[in-house]
Amino acid sequence: SSAPAEIEITPQDTGPEINPHIYGQFIEHLGGVIYDGIWVGRNSKIPNIDGIRKQFVDDLKRIAVPNFRWPGGCFADGYHWRDGIGDPSRRPRTYNYWQASMPQGLDDTEPNHFGIHEFMNLCRLSGAEPYLAANMGSGSPQEFHDWVSYTNAPVGTVSLANERAMNGSKEPFGVRFWGVGNESWGCGGDMTPQEYASLYRRFVTQFPAFPPKPFLIAVGPRGHSKDLDLGWTNGFFEAMQGHRTRVDGLSIHYYTDFRNSPEKVSTFDARGWYDVIREGLRTETVIEQHWAAMGKFDPDRHTKLIVDEWGVWYRPGEEITPAYILSQPLTLRDALHTAVTFDVFNRHADKIAMANVAQTINCIHSLFLAQGDRFARTPVYYVFEMYRNHMQSKLAAMNIRADELKVPSRSGSATIPGLSGSASVREKTLTVTLTNPSLDAPVAAQIRLTSGSITEGKGTILTHTEMTAGNTLDRPNEIKLSALPVVVRNNRVEISIPQRAIVAMELKIT
Ligand code: AHR
Repeated sequence: SSAPAEIEITPQDTGPEINPHIYGQFIEHLGGVIYDGIWVGRNSKIPNIDGIRKQFVDDLKRIAVPNFRWPGGCFADGYHWRDGIGDPSRRPRTYNYWQASMPQGLDDTEPNHFGIHEFMNLCRLSGAEPYLAANMGSGSPQEFHDWVSYTNAPVGTVSLANERAMNGSKEPFGVRFWGVGNESWGCGGDMTPQEYASLYRRFVTQFPAFPPKPFLIAVGPRGHSKDLDLGWTNGFFEAMQGHRTRVDGLSIHYYTDFRNSPEKVSTFDARGWYDVIREGLRTETVIEQHWAAMGKFDPDRHTKLIVDEWGVWYRPGEEITPAYILSQPLTLRDALHTAVTFDVFNRHADKIAMANVAQTINCIHSLFLAQGDRFARTPVYYVFEMYRNHMQSKLAAMNIRADELKVPSRSGSATIPGLSGSASVREKTLTVTLTNPSLDAPVAAQIRLTSGSITEGKGTILTHTEMTAGNTLDRPNEIKLSALPVVVRNNRVEISIPQRAIVAMELKIT
């Protein structure tokens, strides 16, 4: 039988605008992400626009992709931007320390076919804003500042602007988001928060003042550590006390880390299902705790959270091909994890200025898998499509009354909310997203407004009869979105949300 749920929404009680950048992307020179995933080359038979896979661009436009973080990840801290400019046939083949550090014996060289101009072209074609990560690991403040000048200086100022023009872009790229290093507690330099804070100040103090005004993002914690790594956040901000250097964003990396789980990725049981979704829900604790820690140092709340790497990371062994490291299979379970994570992000829109899924294609929590002329949208992709309307809408107060679910877990049993969701409003449209994580029972939900009327509605649903279902390169259409009829009766929406399902509704209100 169905589990009942009552949902009360107050569209007039609006919170902050949901920053579209929350629905952002992350791409790195790793395995099959850039080469073959995104970059197929100008002479490829695979349909492409200036070397970029066309299907990738088309689908990104469908989800109104807001940004790309590039070139890493750990790769960024070994990347020298000059290697990726100029005549592609003359670019050097350089050492990819990041791939070289992996035990799988990957190609440890980088051809540099995809550099800043190709990246900016991807942003332009898809309508995304660039978010660049500076090399703090093996680079210098000077190299960083030169990159800023190369990208942002108008022609007629510094010579680097003329060089950019000679390489094809007279107009400055206008890059606003700058990450200063990546995981400096690990691959980015194995630093203490105090060491990082002092280097951060050196990298930022002489930042070239070409427009636009930069949004500077400091390296933050490894949120999936057992103790949430609050020591990093506290240590960094303590070390920044008494200094004038600005920090606009603090990066958090929060992976649902199942690398050590013995289960196969594509065949799991109920416990595996719920464990992953529970970890997605834990995003809320990570955000709240780091936000509270930051508040002690930044009472005016200038610094916002940037969750610039998140997703479920499984154990290796089921990649598309071994060279495409981390190109793991994605299933319906990961779609539900995505949905509950987005609902957390939405509900904390006052704190989060950006989030970037790791990574868009052929890597970890991907929206797409690709190899040669084969291409698949994963279940995760469809959640981006379903949540698209939340972008730039205002968070609306929502109260969900549903029984908790008692579920099996690694430690025996646990409880999770029987229904998760968020609501947002733009003009006269209310967007409501809800997830029923139960493997057993549908939820019979009633949605009503505390004041005002619902006149009509439409919706979409993502579900499948098998919890382990996913899309592969051989079976790319196993899971896809379906239309969901939404009936409004007596000013209420009455809806049955099947087990293992995500629904998104657009309600017209007066
Ligand atoms: O996304 C893969 C890797 O995970 C990134 O390079 C790094 O920043 C993180 O550890």
